Order: sequence, then structure tokens, then C-alpha cells
Amino acid sequence: MTTTYAVLSEGLEKRFGAVHALRGLDLAVAEGTVCGLLGANGAGKTTAVRLLTTLLRPDGGSARVAGHDLVREAAAVRRRIAVTGQYASVDGDLTGRENLRLFARLHRVRGPAARAGELLELFGLTEAADCRASTYSGGMRRRLDLAASLIRRPDVLFLDEPTTGLDPASRARIRRAVLELRAEGTTVLLTTQYLDEADQLADDIVLVDRGRVAHTGSPAQLKSLVGSHVEAVVADAGTLPRAAAVLDRLTGREPVFDRGRNAVAAVTTDPTLTLPRLVRELDAVGVPLLDAGIRPPTLDDVFLRLTGDTADSKEPVA
Ligand SMILES: Nc1ncnc2c1ncn2[C@@H]1O[C@H](COP(=O)(O)OP(=O)(O)OP(=O)(O)O)[C@@H](O)[C@H]1O
Ligand SMILES: [Mg+2]
Repeated sequence: MTTTYAVLSEGLEKRFGAVHALRGLDLAVAEGTVCGLLGANGAGKTTAVRLLTTLLRPDGGSARVAGHDLVREAAAVRRRIAVTGQYASVDGDLTGRENLRLFARLHRVRGPAARAGELLELFGLTEAADCRASTYSGGMRRRLDLAASLIRRPDVLFLDEPTTGLDPASRARIRRAVLELRAEGTTVLLTTQYLDEADQLADDIVLVDRGRVAHTGSPAQLKSLVGSHVEAVVADAGTLPRAAAVLDRLTGREPVFDRGRNAVAAVTTDPTLTLPRLVRELDAVGVPLLDAGIRPPTLDDVFLRLTGDTADSKEPVA
């Protein structure tokens, strides 16, 4: 079976004056999948979304979105996609339901009332549907904006930090909606600051670093690049430095302390070999253990390892 790509870009470039925001971005998002774009502040995620949704013109490279050339067939691309914030003009004097019906009629959607009802349901706004939008909380407002942007079923949905700043309930609701949309066949490209969100939602993650793709893979693949933590929890805080020294020697990596738990851990790609050695060596040097084990990496670990966590990597170089 050949894969069809909803988004396929090659060498996308964008400059803002002296800032080279995108320096040859290659993306391949398979149809019907969720792709999570991750990267430090200033990595170029929003720029990528704005290019791929035709809000900005690339300075170089090419892309096809929903089967159409981004530049030569921009109007066709626009008809097949939706972007968050596109309809930030929700009317506060109208209810949620009235807003969505209005958008549905404007976009000549068949059965506007039914479509409005579906979207209210999808975003958990059924109960508040008949209250004026001006009474909605920030999270409800964001969900209504999202619902409005989906009024015409898009083939590809672009979400730039859809859940940033929302409370856990609103975030959970949006996550569920993304998964429901994917189940219906919509391709979703989202950026997020919440790595657990990317972990839960994304089939593939693209790590963007200074305008380029640094790594691509499923969350599990990316984590396996980093390796697992092998952790020792010692009975006596005074022995923590000795445990750390052993871990350092076995893994060749700098140990990380969790002093509250009397724990020390280090990353290794060979955890099943390292763990028994650690236990034997600590026993040999007389360090009593409370616990020892293998802790899988989080996407945070991946992110820090693969994109570098230093301040000087946060802004792209010109
Ligand atoms: N309109 C603009 N004019 C000038 N510079 C810009 C413009 N838009 C973006 N940039 C610069 O381009 C680079 C990439 O910005 P972009 O907003 O794409 O990053 P981002 O990955 O979305 O970051 P964040 O995580 O903070 O949202 C940054 O250095 C930014 O300052
Ligand atoms: Mg951004």
C-alpha cells in the first residue's frame, strides 16, 4: 500500500529580514494521522503553520497540502484545510449555537443546524450551547473558535498550540476532539508546548530545531533514541554520592538526582544490562538500596536531549 501524504514539504524556507526562520523544512504527514510539531520557542513552528496554510508565502522550497501545490493552487489548498484562530470573530452577543449556525450558513454547509449540533457535542459545549458566547470562559471560547473553524469538514486541520493556557478539563476535551476527528479521517498537524499531549495524540512527532527538522518518529521511536533511565533509591541519603559515582561509571552519563526520594538516575540505551550491574556493584560497596529500576524516558527527556536545552539554541541563527 502506498502512503498518501496530506502534507508534503521539501526545503521550505522563510526569512524575516535577517532572521532565517525556516531553513529547509521537510515534512511528510500521512493522510489520516496526527502529526505533532515540537520545538523550542522560536524554532519555526508557527511560521511553518502559517506557510502551510497559505497565510505566508515561502521564500523557497515547495509543498503540497491536501494534494494541491501550496503556491500555485493556494485557493484549492484553502478550501481543503482549516486553521485555528481563522474565525476568531465569534460574536459574543450570539449564543454558541447561533454562532455556529451562522458560520454554517455563510459557508453554505448543508444542514447548518445539524452541523452546529455535532460540533457543539464534539467540543463539549452542548450544555452551554444556548448561552451567549460573551459569558463563556476562555477554554469554552477557544473550543467554540475551534468548532467554528471546522464548520466545513476540512481534510487537513492545523492547530497552533490549541490548548496552551487552558485548564485540564478544556485541554482534555480538545484532545478528545482531535482523536475523534482523526477517527473520521481528518489529518491533523498540531504544535504544542505540552509534551505529554504530543505523546498522547501524535502518531508522529517532528522535532523542529532552528528552522529545520532535527528528528522525526513515533513517540516510542523517539524515546528509544534517548534510552531509559536506570534509577537507584538508596536507604541512606549519605550514600547517594557513591550510588551516583557508580551510575556515572556504568553509563558514562551524568546522573540526575531526586533528593526528595533519595534517588539518583542516569540514562542508558542498555538498561537491562546496567540495572543488574548497578545492583551488584552497590551491594559490593555496601550501599543499601530501597529500590532500583528502569524508568522509561519521557518526551521531555527526548526534547532536551535532541534539541539541546541551552538558551542559545532557542533563537534561530540568521
Ligand atoms: N512576522 C515576523 N517578523 C519577524 N520575525 C518573525 C516573524 N514571525 C516570526 N519571526 C521570527 O522567526 C522565528 C521563528 O518564529 P516562530 O513564531 O515560527 O517560532 P515558534 O516555533 O512558533 O515559537 P513559539 O514556541 O515561541 O511559538 C523567531 O525568531 C521569530 O522571532
Ligand atoms: Mg509559535
